[in-house]
Amino acid sequence: MIKKDVKTNLLNHSEAKVRLLGEYLKRYLNIICNDGYTKRIKIYDLFCGEGLYENGGEGSPLVTMRQIKHIHFVNVAKTSILPKIDCHFNDIEESKVKKVEQSLKDKSLYYQEFGDLQFSTDDYQVQYENLLAKLPNLKALNQKVFIFIDPYEYKHIKASQIKNLMLNGSSEVLLWLPTQFMYRFASNGTPEALKDFITEIIPNFNEWRPGNVWHFIAELKQGFQNFLGNNYFVDTFTIQKDINTVFCLFFFTSHIKGFEKMLEAKWEIDTEYGKGWDYAGNTPSLFHEQKTNPLEIKLKEFLKANNRFNGELYEFTLRQGFLPKHTNEIFFNWRNEVKLSVKTADGTEVKNKKHTYLGYKYFRDEFQKVTFNLK
Ligand SMILES: C[S@@+](CC[C@H](N)C(=O)[O-])C[C@H]1O[C@@H](n2cnc3c(N)ncnc32)[C@H](O)[C@@H]1O
Repeated sequence: MIKKDVKTNLLNHSEAKVRLLGEYLKRYLNIICNDGYTKRIKIYDLFCGEGLYENGGEGSPLVTMRQIKHIHFVNVAKTSILPKIDCHFNDIEESKVKKVEQSLKDKSLYYQEFGDLQFSTDDYQVQYENLLAKLPNLKALNQKVFIFIDPYEYKHIKASQIKNLMLNGSSEVLLWLPTQFMYRFASNGTPEALKDFITEIIPNFNEWRPGNVWHFIAELKQGFQNFLGNNYFVDTFTIQKDINTVFCLFFFTSHIKGFEKMLEAKWEIDTEYGKGWDYAGNTPSLFHEQKTNPLEIKLKEFLKANNRFNGELYEFTLRQGFLPKHTNEIFFNWRNEVKLSVKTADGTEVKNKKHTYLGYKYFRDEFQKVTFNLK
């Protein structure tokens, strides 16, 4: 059997990666285009690759432009103030960028009315510096930025760069990391570049011994979260290529609504686990019964410590990587078992067991609409 080359064919695990990108952009663009506030959206794909692979697979530039085209034509008929969506595709290899340009033309995926389209063939570092210089002005101009960073290797990336890209408060970053290779190296003769990368977010790196790649990813996520602080949201999407190879996308945002949209995209792709796409398909797990338990356990601990407001529970649920509908299911159950009471500010019990007020609008406007008390 001929082994397909990951660099010239879009293989299944890469397809899962760009699928998440597409699913997220669909939701992100839909919200931002209709928020009545954002004037321009700028999408940067800093390691864009060649767009169209030999096997016909579509890489990130094509997936991105497809979503933009879709949102444009859905909205253009409905609204007169559609924000422009600019795209910038960069790859160090000129031939790849040319290919992207050509396939966007061949597939009619770009129309001038969408916004500006730019190509470059710079090293990531150059583009990173350019972008950093531009960011401070964008917020003042009511512009939003989405940055996709998809390198082959971790050596290009530093956690502090992600932090810098996020500092203006209007950017979201999706970062791909070859976590399996990083994990292997981290536990065995760590190269300097990896040591530098990890030490930034895991200060006690020398004593750090994650037991397997899943722990490694969970701790990197926590490390990023600690490093960025509580004003930011971090999530991961794991992609298992085969039994020995696990890659991971890391998502960073300072906006809780954007975070919820990423979680929705993730759950859409893997409705069973919500923890990532599995190459072998969703084989039943030995721990099948425990699937929804992690959230239930966490909710119990959270509510035992204190009575909680709906706004707190909305944020808590998302930070655990779950959606309000999951918490709602658990709460419905607990309310039927008379373990949970839900009261308005004047102490009245909310009778309808399906009403929990765990949505973004309540978080924003009525953070303390109801209080939850676990008996
Ligand atoms: C994983 S591939 C990108 C795949 C692409 N995002 C897709 O979905 O098809 C990584 C890309 O990074 C490019 N690259 C490697 N080193 C780079 C650098 N220093 N700066 C910018 N691009 C680089 C490679 O040419 C390659 O196309």
